[in-house]
Amino acid sequence: MSLRPETRAVHSADTDPASGAIVPPIVLSTTFEYETTGLDQDPDQLIYTRWQNPNRVALENTMAVLEGGAVAHAISSGSAAMLTVFQALRPGDHIVSSDDMYFGIRVQLNEFFAPWGLETTYVDMSDLDAVRAAMRPETKLVILETPTNPMIRLADIAAVADIAHAYDALLLVDNTVATPVAQNPIQLGADIVVLSLTKYIAGHHDVLGGVIIFAEEDELAERVMRLVRIGGGVLSPMNCWLAARGLQSLSYRVRAHSESALEVACFLAEHPKIERVLYPHHPSHPQYELALRQMEVGSGLMSILVEGGREAAIEVVNRLQLFTSATSFGGTHSLIEHRESIEEGSSTPANLLRVSIGLEHPADLIADLQQALA
Ligand SMILES: Cc1ncc(COP(=O)(O)O)c(C=O)c1O
Repeated sequence: MSLRPETRAVHSADTDPASGAIVPPIVLSTTFEYETTGLDQDPDQLIYTRWQNPNRVALENTMAVLEGGAVAHAISSGSAAMLTVFQALRPGDHIVSSDDMYFGIRVQLNEFFAPWGLETTYVDMSDLDAVRAAMRPETKLVILETPTNPMIRLADIAAVADIAHAYDALLLVDNTVATPVAQNPIQLGADIVVLSLTKYIAGHHDVLGGVIIFAEEDELAERVMRLVRIGGGVLSPMNCWLAARGLQSLSYRVRAHSESALEVACFLAEHPKIERVLYPHHPSHPQYELALRQMEVGSGLMSILVEGGREAAIEVVNRLQLFTSATSFGGTHSLIEHRESIEEGSSTPANLLRVSIGLEHPADLIADLQQALA
């Protein structure tokens, strides 16, 4: 039967044959009894939890289905997922990456991988000529974050995939902000999708995790699998279980986050104390048409530029009552953060606040913003 993503997500694990439980048990055992001894074992046989675990299998299979990939690997954080992909490359390889992206990934590339011989060129991914000009014969990977965090810039995934493939490079898309509910990078030509499960997938501010999905079980996918299993940075059974539970309501949550975020964006865009709202599905976004074409919904993440500079922006954060001043996004609670204060080597505007719209009623969020901006 061809099932839609919502149904697939709910039915991600079979009823437990031992107990009949429809909620899968959390399998904490680190070791499993051999079904056969000797070296002619079934490769899918459970042996040791670093190698594989039933909760990880359930999560990885569902993530692979939702992103339209062949295989997925769940790992201890979104950052560790990116780190593992970089480790699977080789010294002398070259990366072309978004110049606006989650800053921790840039720190990984500059601080750890550049001295190791993996060089990165940063470009504005909305400028396709700049992307082409950055490509080299040794370019192995192009990395896109779309929408970017925190500038909420978009890139045309299909167009960048064409450029990467023309140079025999792979395209990796960080789909953390959009999630597979809003966009499917693999359908648009991406070879690898990475997500921080910490955000919308788990969705309740209580899981740290990451996942790497490959469109095909190619050579890099095999190397990443070896690194995950032998390196051991795997996601724990408990966190796999929580993330898989989050997946069951993902579609409905992301649509609710997105609807509320659009309402909030419309309110803020008209407010005299707000210089600009950066939200993909708001008509004022410079790439609004691309957003409508590429993203089914706008997600719950936006940034705002506050009139009056850094101090005025920080003052708004301090006055808010429902929004929590905290990092991260994609969970039930609305969060707000002055990004420049926390980013290492930040070039983010000093009056920018990143806003994550949670699952509270949008009218209450708007009332809180109204009083904080008054
Ligand atoms: C777009 C994006 N990708 C990756 C990460 C890293 O994820 P994690 O915090 O799970 O390591 C983040 C974290 O904020 C992020 O915003």
